[in-house]
Amino acid sequence: MTEQFHYKRASISGVVRVPGDKSISHRAIMFASLAYGETVIDHFLHSEDCRRTIEAFKSLGVHISESGNQVKVLGRGVDSFSQPVSALDMGNSGTTTRLMLGILSSLPFKVNLTGDDSLSKRPMGRVINPLTEMGAEFSSLNEENKLPLSVNGGHLQPITYHLPVDSAQVKSSILLAGLLINGTTTVIENNPTRDHTEKMLSAFGGLIEINGQQIKIIGKQTLKSAKITVPGDISSAAFWVAAAVITPGSHLVLEQVGVNPTRMGFVDVLKRMGAKITVTVEHYIGDEPVGTIEASYSELVPTTVTEREIPSMVDEVPLLALVATQSQGEMKINHIKELRYKETDRIEATVNILQNLGATVSSSEDQMVVNGPTDLKGGSVQSKNDHRMAMMAVIASIISDQPVTIDQTDCIKISYPTFFEDLRSIIKENEL
Ligand code: S3P
Repeated sequence: MTEQFHYKRASISGVVRVPGDKSISHRAIMFASLAYGETVIDHFLHSEDCRRTIEAFKSLGVHISESGNQVKVLGRGVDSFSQPVSALDMGNSGTTTRLMLGILSSLPFKVNLTGDDSLSKRPMGRVINPLTEMGAEFSSLNEENKLPLSVNGGHLQPITYHLPVDSAQVKSSILLAGLLINGTTTVIENNPTRDHTEKMLSAFGGLIEINGQQIKIIGKQTLKSAKITVPGDISSAAFWVAAAVITPGSHLVLEQVGVNPTRMGFVDVLKRMGAKITVTVEHYIGDEPVGTIEASYSELVPTTVTEREIPSMVDEVPLLALVATQSQGEMKINHIKELRYKETDRIEATVNILQNLGATVSSSEDQMVVNGPTDLKGGSVQSKNDHRMAMMAVIASIISDQPVTIDQTDCIKISYPTFFEDLRSIIKENEL
């Protein structure tokens, strides 16, 4: 669907509780399926991506029932999994695919995986290589190391693996494979990536040893069911934080948001730019900190983003570029090559969107350079069917002078099905 957005002189105010965290929702279904007993998951994110994870486990024979935002999973351990009768459809979900490949590698049967056009272009070699080293067999039915592919698992050996890319999906895939086989599997990361897999394992009674950037998992642990409430997704909250910070007259309160430090890069960088943001940790759900974020309109200056920070804000970099169009001077965002392997090439898509709206932005292989401040004019932009690009463009429309036309806005349901409801509840269209 192509839609036009125009919020002349609007401001952002009010209180929002964003939907459940996508990364945590996926992992809750996975661990609940591997555990024994009934797990109840509240505030689950019912998005297209998380649906892929539910359907994949149902195809493996796991009983999963849903009622509103609550999901119940009747886990009977990995030995109860049966060979799916047809290929598992991963849709658009990189997280489902890469984490599932870790689990499927340990199972003694062959499974076929398919995905949509975007997912079928994304690199799977990053998980196929270590899982092959562990003993799994893959055959790509099309281009090498891309979906559609099949995995033939069983008889895996533990490995020690130094991650060649900063990726929580790769780390989690190996840890999940390691959990299901005999011996100790070790993953070493260069820069810290989101640690929801490690924290979720503890919630299900599992043990994991973390020593700096080295993570060790002992295989064949028996997990027991848990009661999980999924914190609000900081990557969804980030859209409203950005909107509040760049839109004059705004003040916003975001409640019950997951504020795990491995996800806080965007907020930390904005604060260094001078943004008025406060984060209050209120409680923990398992080991996950949860709290309130308040954000107000702010005068901004550019800052330097370090390589170490990028994994903690990897999904928010396009939004950071948008915010940088409103800061005083040149901002270089470096070390962002991984963005080229997301649902679309997010460096190219961000530069195209922001340039079309009138911003001064350029890019090289690993970097974006934004010169601000610029008044965004409005115009027509392409989301490339990427949920985060479409939502970033909607936020840009709030501060654009003229309407912004965005194509393929349907893709927003991949991660944030209630995005427009939440937008309507906080946007105040002031009198002209
Ligand atoms: C995710 C990890 C990140 C992130 C993705 C979700 C996860 O991907 O971009 O949206 O849940 O582990 P990478 O592991 O490719 O960095």
